[in-house]
Amino acid sequence: MEPKTKKYTINRSIKPEASEGSAVILEDQKPLSQSMVWRLQADFYANQGPEAWIKGIVPQYITTNPYIATLYARTVFGYCRDIAASEAFDKNTTIYIMELAAGVGRFTYTFLKRFLHMVENSSLKGLKFQYIITDLAERNAAYWQNHSYLKPFFESGILDCAVFDMAKEEELRLRNSGRVIRKGCLKSPLILFANYTFDSIPQDTFYVNKGKLHEGLITVTSNNGQDELKDKSILAGKDYFYTDKQIPGSGYYEDVHFNDILLYYKACLEDTAFSLPITALRCLRRLKELFDDDLVLISADKGYRSTASMDKNYHPYLSKHGSISLTVNFHALELYFKSLGGSAIHSIYEHENITMSLFLLSNRSHDFLETKMAYQEIIEGIGPDDFYILKKAVVPFNKSLTTKELLTFIRYTVWDARTFLEFYNTLLERIAKEEDFPKDELISVIYKLWEYYFPIGEEGNLFYCLATLLGYFGYDTDAIRLFESSLEFYGEDAGIYYEIALCYYNLQEFEKAMEFIEKSLLLNPEFAESINLKDLIGEVTD
Ligand SMILES: C[S@@+](CC[C@H](N)C(=O)[O-])C[C@H]1O[C@@H](n2cnc3c(N)ncnc32)[C@H](O)[C@@H]1O
Repeated sequence: MEPKTKKYTINRSIKPEASEGSAVILEDQKPLSQSMVWRLQADFYANQGPEAWIKGIVPQYITTNPYIATLYARTVFGYCRDIAASEAFDKNTTIYIMELAAGVGRFTYTFLKRFLHMVENSSLKGLKFQYIITDLAERNAAYWQNHSYLKPFFESGILDCAVFDMAKEEELRLRNSGRVIRKGCLKSPLILFANYTFDSIPQDTFYVNKGKLHEGLITVTSNNGQDELKDKSILAGKDYFYTDKQIPGSGYYEDVHFNDILLYYKACLEDTAFSLPITALRCLRRLKELFDDDLVLISADKGYRSTASMDKNYHPYLSKHGSISLTVNFHALELYFKSLGGSAIHSIYEHENITMSLFLLSNRSHDFLETKMAYQEIIEGIGPDDFYILKKAVVPFNKSLTTKELLTFIRYTVWDARTFLEFYNTLLERIAKEEDFPKDELISVIYKLWEYYFPIGEEGNLFYCLATLLGYFGYDTDAIRLFESSLEFYGEDAGIYYEIALCYYNLQEFEKAMEFIEKSLLLNPEFAESINLKDLIGEVTD
């Protein structure tokens, strides 16, 4: 069995062997949160922009799939019911939902689709809210504003966006409306999302032994490109190691709440390291001030939630996947919320891939029954980590499942495009062969997949697959719309133009069919299917 928390073999104060003799020190003994690695990280995201997700450099599936978005929607729905039911609530108040470090925007879109569906079909209809999507990267913000799927949300005012650096921003400058949210201008609660966020921003690390607290200082060295072939991350060509330095007194940070967390661990841990999500804590402090101490945070990350997981650990390993990430100490976030009079609910057990936790702080006297109930339902049932484990277990067996079982599973994933694509070939093989193929069920799945999918043009063209199936079943008008989306997100393609021409041909719209055949042949004059179809159209129209 894998140990619960990874331990790393780098010795304290000893340089890694690989760099002996040749290592050049790039940075010497810095608190981890002030290390150069974070500058490299910020540059990586700023330069890559959406490409980091389109090319699959940054992991995203587990935090952006429709299943997790639905779980968030249900929890927020519970929270809104709590807020709306309180006597003090003014119906004209706007409830803000803010997503930190949102990346490419897939979670935003899926959440809004699910959440709006719930609100519009419930007693909450008419509730005022606004979703603010944020990230450090300017290129991400420009991408959201230009994305055709997000445009209707921007236009209706339900969505706005901001470039927001969690390490320093004091206010929110909304790009769509031009509004600036400053301290003191709002008396509204904030619902805050942070997925794969706290693991990507600066943290500090400490070591406790015999009642003494040490800061873990990182030294970064160059390894003269020894690993450049296998390491494509921002740390390529670099090694790092930690040194411990005893901290005198109890005023390490500028905030008594943060120092109290350190003192707590100093008193209860022994011979182990722990990390502190200091940038997250400072950002939460600023946001709670901006939103009048009324805040619910839902976060999903690689994280641990109890002191038991902090036993005999070493300083953080910087996990490399283009950018870097490190495990998040959710327990420290809980201590912070509790020190402010708030509370936290974690999952029941330690999770393999991702932990989802909820933190509450309110200036209202409120017991948040609906929020807690919605959240308990999730953590006692199938949470985001369980979902991922289950999905990974089922997909390899897709050929031995019946078609009904495959479609049921896609519904269970809340119409997840990736799962569908993994089942696609099996479904395709069975359509023509299988007696009593559940055609109507497949068609309803296709429309739902289309409804919840947020395209970014990554590998695996869902539009093409859905359009092919709809075309096969004779839904040519919708197949054309899907093929057109393929052109929008994947660019011009002679084959796609041909497919559109074929749909128009089937609809007996021969002029349009010819128009698309010409486009196809312009891109590839040798494209055999288009040449044949052109002849056919010529025969019917002559
Ligand atoms: C691993 S990605 C997570 C993206 C998204 N939340 C998801 O689950 O796919 C980390 C994100 O953090 C953003 N980021 C990094 N440093 C940041 C900072 N200081 N302030 C705000 N966002 C930051 C990056 O631009 C990137 O979008």
